Amino acid sequence: MSPTPSQRADYTFKYNRSYGRHGWLRLTPAYSVKLVEKLLISGEENLIILDPFSGTATTALVAAENAYQAYSFDINPFLVWLGNIKCKNYSQEQIIKIRHAVNNALVEFQSSLGEEHWIPNIFNIERWWSSQTLTILSALRYSLVQQFGEPKNSADLGIVWIAFCRLIIETSSAAFNHVSMSFNNKVTHFEVDKIEQLFIDILDFILKSTSKPIRGSTKIIKADARCIINLNEVKVDRVITSPPYPNRISYIRELRPYMYWTKFLNEAKEAGEIDWMAIGGTWGIATSRLKSWQIDEVNLLPESVYNAVENIKKSEGKNAHILSIYVLKYFYDMHLHLRSLRHLLKDGAKIDYIVGNSTFFGNRVDTASLLAESMKMLGYKKISFEIIRKRNSKKELYEYCVSATWEEA
Ligand SMILES: C[S@@+](CC[C@H](N)C(=O)[O-])C[C@H]1O[C@@H](n2cnc3c(N)ncnc32)[C@H](O)[C@@H]1O
Repeated sequence: MSPTPSQRADYTFKYNRSYGRHGWLRLTPAYSVKLVEKLLISGEENLIILDPFSGTATTALVAAENAYQAYSFDINPFLVWLGNIKCKNYSQEQIIKIRHAVNNALVEFQSSLGEEHWIPNIFNIERWWSSQTLTILSALRYSLVQQFGEPKNSADLGIVWIAFCRLIIETSSAAFNHVSMSFNNKVTHFEVDKIEQLFIDILDFILKSTSKPIRGSTKIIKADARCIINLNEVKVDRVITSPPYPNRISYIRELRPYMYWTKFLNEAKEAGEIDWMAIGGTWGIATSRLKSWQIDEVNLLPESVYNAVENIKKSEGKNAHILSIYVLKYFYDMHLHLRSLRHLLKDGAKIDYIVGNSTFFGNRVDTASLLAESMKMLGYKKISFEIIRKRNSKKELYEYCVSATWEEA
């Protein structure tokens, strides 16, 4: 009998926290550098790697640190921006320029503290930051904009905004002691000096971690993985990725504070719109739209997907009907993704998908085997999957690696 798999924190985002650039900003569903290295590193040279679900760009960064060429896609514009900043080389001149401009910003910040500045339109913002902390953060943001421009426009010096994002989360009442983010009961008041020092320390950590050179090249592109764009005739050797799982986790939930402060989000309804485009998204309008969603290509999916969906629909659970549509749409979207991926794959390309199973009212959704069936229908070869870790100490929730190859006929 094979041993029970452990929770392997070294295969999760936790491993990345002290791992240079990988530790800049946390995304709970990110996977670890170690896992990507295990899948990626081989004796082969000049590989082209694709991650169609970039998230915090773990795959692209590992690939580029190891001198490979990498492309990544994500539907979320904030993550595309973050990924591109993370995967750049920074020269000594640029670092000096950034430190100099930050010093200027900090001087200006002291004198602008008494003024009223823009704060993001986040619902119930005092739940995140006390009004005193907000005043300080908004003054600092204002001074940084004077030196670096708005985050979206700060091009090569955008790295300073990553430090600001880290600052806003470290001064917030967000608690990360659950699978995803929640709130502490109390918001903490921060003094000006404390925030200034924290910002300097964070920036220092971030700038120092850029010393590891990026030897390969990366392009993080805003694109929908369900209808994959052409990469100017480029075809890839490997796909290493972790798509969303059918578990109702919305990435936008954890990313909201960053996205509002950097103006990638301006009002609540935009978050629902982005999550509707994301596979498996359920934030805001994304859930209510499911009610009227219908699959537009009948009999496209493996029979077992329809069976899993039917079992959920028949269960006694609250919202069973809408959740059955959620699961159907998830596998439909993933099928569209796997179908459109094929034109980017070289003959003999290998694909590795890290995915998790889930349960709805006692009905297991075996994501790995259902995706493996989609791959089979779509002509992929050498399909296999194995458990790589247990996700939860109580429930039977696991993460799997589903692998296959693409061989031209
Ligand atoms: C599990 S996360 C990837 C985490 C990543 N491996 C990391 O280490 O940070 C899945 C990502 O897929 C993205 N995504 C969801 N739907 C997408 C779509 N239709 N096209 C492209 N990206 C999508 C989400 O925005 C999210 O960043």
